[in-house]
Amino acid sequence: MKIEKLLTLTALLSTAAPAAAQKAEILGNRHAMVRIDTPKKYLLLPVEEKEENAHIRVIKDNQLVKTFNCRLATDKADYFVPYEVENGELLDITFSGNLRTNGIINDFACLKHMTYADTFDTANVEKHRPAYHHTPAYGWMNDPNGMFYKDGTWHLYYQYNPYGSQWENMTWGHSTSTDLIHWEQQPTAIEADGLGTIFSGSAVVDTHNTAGFGEGAIVALYTSAGQSQVQSMAYSTDNGRTFTKYAGNPVITSSLPDFRDPHVFWNEEAGFWNLILAAGQEMQIYSSSNLKEWKYESSFGHGYGNHGGVWECPDLMKLPVEGTGQEKWLLLCNINPGGPMGGSATQYFVGTFDGHTFTCEDRPEVTKWMDYGKDHYATVTFDNAPDHRRVAIAWMSNWQYANQVPTRQFRSANSIARELGLFEHHGKTYCSVKPVREMDAARGPKQKNPSESCELVVTLKGDAQITLRNAAGERVVMTYDAEQEIFDMDRRHSGNVAFSDAFPAVTSAPTYGPLRQLRIFIDKCSVEVFDADGKMAMTNLVFPSAAYNKVTVKGKASVTVYSLKK
Ligand code: FRU
Repeated sequence: MKIEKLLTLTALLSTAAPAAAQKAEILGNRHAMVRIDTPKKYLLLPVEEKEENAHIRVIKDNQLVKTFNCRLATDKADYFVPYEVENGELLDITFSGNLRTNGIINDFACLKHMTYADTFDTANVEKHRPAYHHTPAYGWMNDPNGMFYKDGTWHLYYQYNPYGSQWENMTWGHSTSTDLIHWEQQPTAIEADGLGTIFSGSAVVDTHNTAGFGEGAIVALYTSAGQSQVQSMAYSTDNGRTFTKYAGNPVITSSLPDFRDPHVFWNEEAGFWNLILAAGQEMQIYSSSNLKEWKYESSFGHGYGNHGGVWECPDLMKLPVEGTGQEKWLLLCNINPGGPMGGSATQYFVGTFDGHTFTCEDRPEVTKWMDYGKDHYATVTFDNAPDHRRVAIAWMSNWQYANQVPTRQFRSANSIARELGLFEHHGKTYCSVKPVREMDAARGPKQKNPSESCELVVTLKGDAQITLRNAAGERVVMTYDAEQEIFDMDRRHSGNVAFSDAFPAVTSAPTYGPLRQLRIFIDKCSVEVFDADGKMAMTNLVFPSAAYNKVTVKGKASVTVYSLKK
């Protein structure tokens, strides 16, 4: 990934602990204050991941202007994160955690090693950072949010913690791309406010100015996660770079505790906007003519599909059914836990939708999954994509271990972008998933062996076994049983699997007919497998100590390895 250096390079990470910025004032055994007294841009905060969160209140001219949590180091900094300061601010810091194990506040590493700087080094220091998947330059990322396409640019927002590489302080980060492969990180787009932190949501291009913010304004609907989860709105008149929050927020409320992740879209046939959001174990559907006033229409989901966890991050779209001339509606429902391989996964429903009610065409007990790996979650699609394309991106992790995966500078990556469609098999309709065509354009020259970032194309006739391996004996073994129509991936010996009991796994997918060609995308810490016809997808993380540089194939199968253009 090309990371634009928003923040210029310094040698900070390579130098010894820098001198303290400013002496902290200790006010109690859990309480300190730091007065910002500098013309510099950042206060670099030392983070220690095993620590509990300290709560930081930023006070300017006696007013509370911001609050955030940060695992400030007590023993030793794992890494630093930049807090952008304004001179004169007062940071009011309350530590939590067990004082007997933390020691005495005067000795806390964070208070000794907080430092001012004009720059922050975002150069990659992670061996597992993917080359052609989107990652934040630093900090934590989960769900993709608010994705839209406009004027040749794909916009990806995401659940982001700028103050550490674990889940906290939800903010919308922002990256842009012109090819869905190379991403440039932009300044954070939507930050927490009095209504709460900013949870997942979506954005639309309001071409006809239905909301009154201007033709082509970008309108984002997201969850404000405060005392309750409510839906809020923000708009942008500079193509998604900066957002203004709507003064009438919240725009949708409920007494349900899990009430979030609004996904908005223009319903062409109905002639109004629809919004779908997750409400406990159901999806609620709303309609609006102006994106501000929403009318509740109906709920879907009671008794349908998998209910092993909380329903989250929905999407709803109309798609053609391949080779039939028909169109059907696809409802995406991310669920955590309850996934077929444990933890998080994306289930879906196929049916009809008239702007008011979604009707599933399958029996309630039928469950359909979009991807049979362990690391495919919070999948949603871009608004306003060209040529009627339905382009989806998933978060490539699983809540079972997302906070523990062995990276530090950043956690985690997105999947490659995927094109969604529908296909029929034995009279039933399923969702097809293919790598976007931009991945074809990214193919470089063929190479003999796999490398840390490459694509493998496997042509097969019947049973096959494909093994990726490195010199340390670490391996990923993929097996296709043609008779059973099952494809497996075994990552139990893929490298570092010890950070979570839930990580070692064999994942298994139905193939809905014979597999003829597989496309396998490897990128440092991931293996994504697609049936080239789109009938099966499997996304798994792996953390090998060195690249898998050998591939062996058993059965009537052959493999071609492509490099990928950087
Ligand atoms: C899904 C999710 C969403 C929520 C967000 C918070 O991964 O739990 O439901 O909006 O993450 O970060």
